[in-house]
Amino acid sequence: MIVILDDDTVQKIAAGEVVERPASVVKELVENAIDAGAKKISISFRGGGQDIISVTDDGEGMTEEDARLSLLPHSTSKIRSLEDIKTLATLGFRGEALTSIAKVSIMEIHTKKREAEGIYLRTGGGNIEEVMPRPRERGTTVTVRNLFFNVPARRKFLKSNYAEGERIKTMITGIAIAYPEIAFSLFHNQNLILQLEKTSPEGRINELLGDEVTKEMTYIEYKKNSIRLSGFISLPEYLKDKGKLEYISVNKRPVRSGLIRSAIKNAYGIPTRERSPSFILNLEIDKNIVDVNVHPRKEEVRFADENFIYGTIFGAVREKVGIGTEGGIRERGYEWEMEPTAFWQLHNSYVLAQTKTGVLIIDQHAAHERILYEKIMKKKPSSQKLLFPLIVLLSTKEYEIFITFKDVLTTFGFEVEEFGERTVRIISVSSFLKDITENEFKEMLYQIRDVKPFSDITVTLACMGAVKQKEKLSPEEMNALIDDLFATENPYFCPHGRPTMIKWSIEELARRFGR
Ligand SMILES: Nc1ncnc2c1ncn2[C@@H]1O[C@H](COP(=O)(O)OP(=O)(O)OP(=O)(O)O)[C@@H](O)[C@H]1O
Ligand SMILES: [Mg+2]
Repeated sequence: MIVILDDDTVQKIAAGEVVERPASVVKELVENAIDAGAKKISISFRGGGQDIISVTDDGEGMTEEDARLSLLPHSTSKIRSLEDIKTLATLGFRGEALTSIAKVSIMEIHTKKREAEGIYLRTGGGNIEEVMPRPRERGTTVTVRNLFFNVPARRKFLKSNYAEGERIKTMITGIAIAYPEIAFSLFHNQNLILQLEKTSPEGRINELLGDEVTKEMTYIEYKKNSIRLSGFISLPEYLKDKGKLEYISVNKRPVRSGLIRSAIKNAYGIPTRERSPSFILNLEIDKNIVDVNVHPRKEEVRFADENFIYGTIFGAVREKVGIGTEGGIRERGYEWEMEPTAFWQLHNSYVLAQTKTGVLIIDQHAAHERILYEKIMKKKPSSQKLLFPLIVLLSTKEYEIFITFKDVLTTFGFEVEEFGERTVRIISVSSFLKDITENEFKEMLYQIRDVKPFSDITVTLACMGAVKQKEKLSPEEMNALIDDLFATENPYFCPHGRPTMIKWSIEELARRFGR
């Protein structure tokens, strides 16, 4: 039965823009169909979803009274009070979606509940304009025409029809991955572009993504305490910088999660600035420890214990891709209570991060030096073959140093052979470097001669391998940098002894503003 939620409950529900673009309409309608127990869902759209979106299901349907109620704000059959969200078995709970979509479109609902007769309703800008009996099978079709016809400003924010159509497809893909037990079909301009029969989770992924993609991935399954993880992740040799797939669902709810994403990426232990893994991950977790009421479009969830989630996923992925766990599980700097996505880069050199108690400014080069330094100290560097061996002509003095300290170079993963008079050929470099220039190599020779201890040479290596100032970082890279930094033993100073970060508390800011 649909009821109108009381004011107090309404106040506590994550409010905001429910319909941002056509894909959000598709998401809401398909989720309603799933909540209605549909076994088969058919979606069609035209004009990037702006002209028409229609979703048909074979779910339980609505009576005329239900259908009228469903259009009123805060009307839902799914919860009665906020308490119910903790044990929620449905995707919807706010009683807001249909109302919000109806307000900005011409909407038709054609529905039939088992015993009741079929009913057709049409609304324009949220007002019911027509209601009449119309027979049909049990189930519901919601059709949305002329989306945003009365909010031209919204339309301006939309991308091309093609781009909006792609978002719809991605949205459906994400939902279909989480619900292999439901059959889906998707029509674009009346052409059938996706048809998925009911199948197993692996079957669904295979069908959606094809052998090409799945052969680059490995199945992962993991169970621990209240957490169950299953899905596919990239094999370490198939990390990519473009065309990655990233799908996460938490208790069958497709979401984005910076936390899970960085746990996965970091588990591969590679410089995440370059390439990163694809993943399709379903997470099942005790409903009590995940809050679904945090985002107006329900695209994100919040975990009661982020540290636990991060650690579990990191460990599971690491175990699966066989990277070993020496160095331990990295933990975020909880002292700072970092907001996982709030990072900005200043002058391509410093990362500004918001914490619960203030702000941090991080020197990206110094931070990365610290990270590499500890990595090298913990684990003997391995070799990284250069795509093109580098041939370097040395001075007599440099050549002498090379001959004397050849073994030290080998310890750090360098493979350098003699190549004629005073000439060497660099075949591999330490795995902590991407490449090396002629000058860097020569400089390193002098450093090795002048500073003998392993740790000091490590400082040099870390400095050469670290991101430079004036290098643009993506949000993911910043996230990984901060994660990795706080996982080090001494995150506050670079190996040269300079600070890696400056911290300002809210109190300090207030004081400086004379508050
Ligand atoms: N396809 C459908 N089949 C059967 N009932 C539906 C369908 N779509 C909507 N309803 C009914 O209409 C009500 C309102 O739907 P609406 O999507 O607006 O809210 P909700 O799903 O309860 O919450 P949310 O705003 O979080 O999606 C639902 O609670 C449900 O009872
Ligand atoms: Mg809904």
